[in-house]
Order: sequence, then C-alpha cells, then structure tokens
Amino acid sequence: MRTQVAIVGAGPAGLVLAHLLRAAGIESVVIERRTRDYVEGRVRAGVLEQGTVAALARLGLDRRLRAEGLVHTGTNLAMDGGIVRIDMADLTGGGAVTIYGQQEVMRDLFDAAETHGMPIVFGAEDVRLHDIDGASPSVSYRTAAGVQHLACDVVAGCDGSHGICRHFVPEAVRKTFERVYPFGWLGILAEVPPAAPELIYASHANGFALSSMRSPTRSRYYIQCGIDERIEDWPDDRFWDELCLRLGPEIAAGVVRGPAFEKSIAPLRSFVGEPMRHGRLFLAGDAAHSVPPTGAKGMNLAVSDVLMLAEALEDFFVRNDQSGLDGYSARALARVWKAERFSWWFTGLTHRFPEATGFDRRMQVAEFAYLRTSRAAQTALAENYIGLPLDPAAGRPSTEARA
Ligand code: APR
Ligand code: PHB
Repeated sequence: MRTQVAIVGAGPAGLVLAHLLRAAGIESVVIERRTRDYVEGRVRAGVLEQGTVAALARLGLDRRLRAEGLVHTGTNLAMDGGIVRIDMADLTGGGAVTIYGQQEVMRDLFDAAETHGMPIVFGAEDVRLHDIDGASPSVSYRTAAGVQHLACDVVAGCDGSHGICRHFVPEAVRKTFERVYPFGWLGILAEVPPAAPELIYASHANGFALSSMRSPTRSRYYIQCGIDERIEDWPDDRFWDELCLRLGPEIAAGVVRGPAFEKSIAPLRSFVGEPMRHGRLFLAGDAAHSVPPTGAKGMNLAVSDVLMLAEALEDFFVRNDQSGLDGYSARALARVWKAERFSWWFTGLTHRFPEATGFDRRMQVAEFAYLRTSRAAQTALAENYIGLPLDPAAGRPSTEARA
C-alpha cells in the first residue's frame, strides 16, 4: 500500500490533518491503535478557540457545532469571595470561545471521514516507523490480516502523549522540557443544568474548582485533588459538597446536584519535546507537547499545529516547495510555547500548591487583585483564552488570510 502522508493516530490532530489534506487534494491514510468508539468516547475538554472553529468551518465540519455549540463571550475567575468577569468580546474586539465537547468534535470528524471514504485503519497494533531519515519512509503495523506496510512520502506523528512517534526523534537531537504538577483534576459529567451561564475558575483554600458545561442541560465540574487520590474515595455527595464549598455560597446556590455519569482523575503536566520534526517525520498535538487543562488548550493546540503542517505539506506536494516543512517545527513551537506559558500561568494563579510559602500565596492574591482592576491584565488573559493568532508577527500570511 502507498500514500502521500501516513498519519499515526486518529485523535483531533490526526483527523483534522487528514481532512485538511483531503481539502488540498493530498492523499493520506490514518493508522489508529484503538477503535472509533474508544477514541470518540474519551471525555476531554470542550472549549474551542475561534481559530479552531474557523478551521472546522473551512472544512465544512461546523454544521452541528454552529447549531449546538454555546458561544461564550466572557469567562469568570473567583477567589476569596470575589469574582471577576473577563469580558472577552469587549476586551478583544468581539472575541469569543465556543463550548462544544471534544467528543462531539470527534464524532463530526469521523462521520465526515466516513462520508468522504477517507481511509482510517482502526485496531492497528505494533505501529513502527521506518526510514524517516530518507525520502521514502514507511509505516508498518499489524492487523487481524497480518503485518501491513504503508509506503509514504511523509509521516505525521499524531499519536498523543503515550504514542511511539516522538521516540523516533533521536536522543542526540531531542530536548524535552517538563513540569509535573503535584496534583490532579477530578472531573465529573452530570445531566443537570450548569451552575452559571459561563465558566467559573475558582481558587479556594482547599484547592481549585471549575464550573463548566457541555450543554444547557449537561454540566462538567472539576476539583483539584491529590495525585494519589482514588475515584472510590469520591462518592457523588462528597464531590458535590466539596465543589460547592470551593465555588463559594453565591455560585453554589446555582449548583444543581445529580448523579455523575462520568468521573475520572487526570494528572497535570506541562511538556514540550523539541524539535517537532526529524527527517520526514513531523509531530503534531500531544505527540509533541502537553499542557495542564486550566486554559483548555490541548485540542486547540493540536488543531493549530496541523493547520501549519497542512500548509507546509501543501507547499511541498502541490508547489514543490520544501521551505514550509523546513520551518514547521520552529513555527509551531513559537505558538506552542505561548500556550504553554498561558496554561502554566493560569494553573499557578488558581491552584493551591502543597509547597507554596506565604509569599507565594500573597503573589496569587496580588495577581488576582491586579486582574480585578486592570484592563491590561484582563486583556492579556482574554487574548490568550480566545486563542493567539497562528503567526502574530505576520512573517507569513495567516491560514485564514490564505483561505
Ligand atoms: N499507534 C497508533 N495510534 C496510536 C498509538 C500507536 N502506537 N499510540 C496512540 N495512538 C492513538 C491514540 O489511541 C489516540 O487516538 O493516537 C491518538 C492520539 O490522540 P490524542 O491523545 O487525542 O492526541 P491529539 O490528537 O494530539 O489531541 C490532543 O486531544 O485527547 C486530547 O488531551 C488531548 O487535548 C488533547 C488533544
Ligand atoms: C471542560 O469543560 O472540560 C473544560 C473547560 C475549561 C477548561 C478545562 C476543561 O479550562
């Protein structure tokens, strides 16, 4: 079998890339270890930056997103009884985010892939990359039918943070940067109306809490928890009590309790591997980097990476110009590091760190007080939250401008 681009992983990075390439007339095959149900069923964040929405719209994948997504023009921070509304629309000249779960995005991507007959191999085991240093790489994998070989021109490593692709960047050239946070997020989904119409990021002496949603009738709540805690230790009643305590009485008054139909604990980590390219292998999304979920940047970063990669691949295959591929890693990393900074900063502002000193705590209080009164500080938060442009310095035209 042969294709132009072999894409490893059918998460948001891999599937959006496959759709972008198809739109550009470039062939790809997606190779995924799990089943469609498994990939689609994973509960992840649900805040789409406007650039992500624009990309899905360009691909004609926004019908359900436009109908069911909730457009939020503001977000809220609560600390020690005070609350600040960040009016994103006012601060950024009309900016907003759209609340639409990653599960819904995945469903739309898979449905459209099926409609267009895009090749996706599910249940591919033992995926290996070959000859990425040369001009004719290939990917091998095992299915029920035996070991398969897919010859290609380029491999896109979109296989997430536990994938194999990043390990094909040799140790000698690879640099990794990591911060592991000393806590996790315990999250639930419940079929109850959300506490408030917009998201609320709350900082409390017991730890962080987040009030979020999937729809007007489905809530998503999180609380900061210890990394060693177990789901079994958090029966629903205990979760609701702790959530309400951390959100404060005013917001808690709006919390509607109900059975949690999903409950999970996720660790928090910041990670970047550099470079995002080796030979004919190009990494995108969680395969190259992770962010703590505080700014909801994970899926959005996966999409911005593949927007850049698809442009570079179009230059390569359609215009016979390799410069985009040569510049891909630096271009993607420039935006990745800004999203890393924002996610790290927002985590630091809103969470309780076990090792924090009295000074550290005063810094959080001072930062919050500054945010309350400074339009400049609020604008900085808002412009990061709605999503930074692909290329702020406009060294090359943005994706939107080229579309
Ligand atoms: N072979 C084939 N597929 C693999 C392999 C492998 N060895 N290892 C992992 N995969 C698949 C996973 O099963 C998953 O479906 O790669 C996919 C990677 O998807 P994500 O982890 O979602 O990563 P990405 O597409 O970069 O999206 C990043 O989405 O899931 C969230 O938390 C994630 O917000 C982040 C964003
Ligand atoms: C979510 O709704 O799952 C969510 C929202 C905002 C975040 C993280 C997760 O920052």
